[in-house]
Amino acid sequence: MTLISHDRDVLPALPHWETPPGDLPAAIREIKAALRARIAASGRTVEEVFEVIERRVTEQVEKIAAEQAAGETVWPVIDYADIEAGTVSAAELAKLYERGCLVVRGHFPREQALGWDSAIVDYVESNRFFQNYRGPGDNFFGSVGSKPEIYPVYWSPAQMQARQSGRMATVQAFLNSQWRSESEGTRWFDPERDSLYPDRIRRRPEGADSDGLGTHLDPGTLDLWMTEAYQRAFRHLFDGSIESYDPWDPAHRTAGPQYPGSTMCSAFRTFQGWTALSDMDHDQGVLHTVPIPEAMGYLMLRPLLSDVAEDDMCGVTTNQVFPANDKWHPLLMRALAGIPDIKAGDSVWWHCDMIHSVAPVTNQQGWGNVMYIPAAPWCPRNESYAASVREAFITGSSPSDFPDENYERDWGNRFRYDDLNEAGRRGLGLD
Ligand SMILES: [Fe+2]
Repeated sequence: MTLISHDRDVLPALPHWETPPGDLPAAIREIKAALRARIAASGRTVEEVFEVIERRVTEQVEKIAAEQAAGETVWPVIDYADIEAGTVSAAELAKLYERGCLVVRGHFPREQALGWDSAIVDYVESNRFFQNYRGPGDNFFGSVGSKPEIYPVYWSPAQMQARQSGRMATVQAFLNSQWRSESEGTRWFDPERDSLYPDRIRRRPEGADSDGLGTHLDPGTLDLWMTEAYQRAFRHLFDGSIESYDPWDPAHRTAGPQYPGSTMCSAFRTFQGWTALSDMDHDQGVLHTVPIPEAMGYLMLRPLLSDVAEDDMCGVTTNQVFPANDKWHPLLMRALAGIPDIKAGDSVWWHCDMIHSVAPVTNQQGWGNVMYIPAAPWCPRNESYAASVREAFITGSSPSDFPDENYERDWGNRFRYDDLNEAGRRGLGLD
């Protein structure tokens, strides 16, 4: 018997769309049939392949559910001082690898974070932001039925000081090194150099009622199945070698196109993250994740099962955030786990493919303030996005990944070119 299942080159090729297909339902039907055919040609069935990832994920779900029932903290927590000194224990590293998320305690001194928070208030108030605010710039989160309390502000001195700080670079390098920066004979990114991905801030006031933000993920939408680069990145899911699927392998993810959207991420991020600018208790409408990195394999294969309509990718479509939910992913939803109590100056991180949400809250105690700063290491994708970031930085515009709101163009007290340090210049590709 010839085992073609181990010769990936002879498997049927996949159609691909490097820009969003004009007829989405037709393209979804076509790619689903092609993915199934490819898996079948490897000698396995879709059901069999899905079962492998389901087993792997179930083990983690049970473990997390047991920890939660026992009142344990599911999220790994590591002190900044240990990261800086290189004294993070093997057990802590193993837990980070298993859970794919992390709280860094004391990433910044608490007073510094609180100072940044009040500097941001001064920055927006001195520029009459609240009088001029025109409402949300898009409906990107419409598919999960809620809206965040986000300020579309990118270029405050506080944000830029944090982005270019040595402490941020230390944590980013640590997180990047959890990934295999090299695989298949290629070095995919430079773990020691960040690209200063500019994102927004969230400030949710005391007493706030909020619906939170439904469970979703950020790495892309239909492009995850439909572009050639992502088909190669997720190759092990579709060629019968699912046992080799590694959520920490960046192969083929650090170049290649992303489908456009009014809110998107052109950058490759190893981890999403934010830095706390206020203390936040764990029951005050905080971030949750499904802390299982390999759940991405489950999410990618789930639409291929026979109970999903032929022209449906479990609700994923272009220009809307990728939803995760009880309808299609009840197993994963069981593992949804919130962060522990956070102090201003702590930072919170989660693997770029990970499902996350913000819990609802009524009459919130204390503020809920964060600045979003991810780990986005230097690579071809981030280098190319850095060109438009430089332009946005110089003109005070909204970065091109975000709605075209441009509040800060006339704000005289925004962070300036001369305020950049070496990390800042390198991150923007200016050195
Ligand atoms: Fe998100």
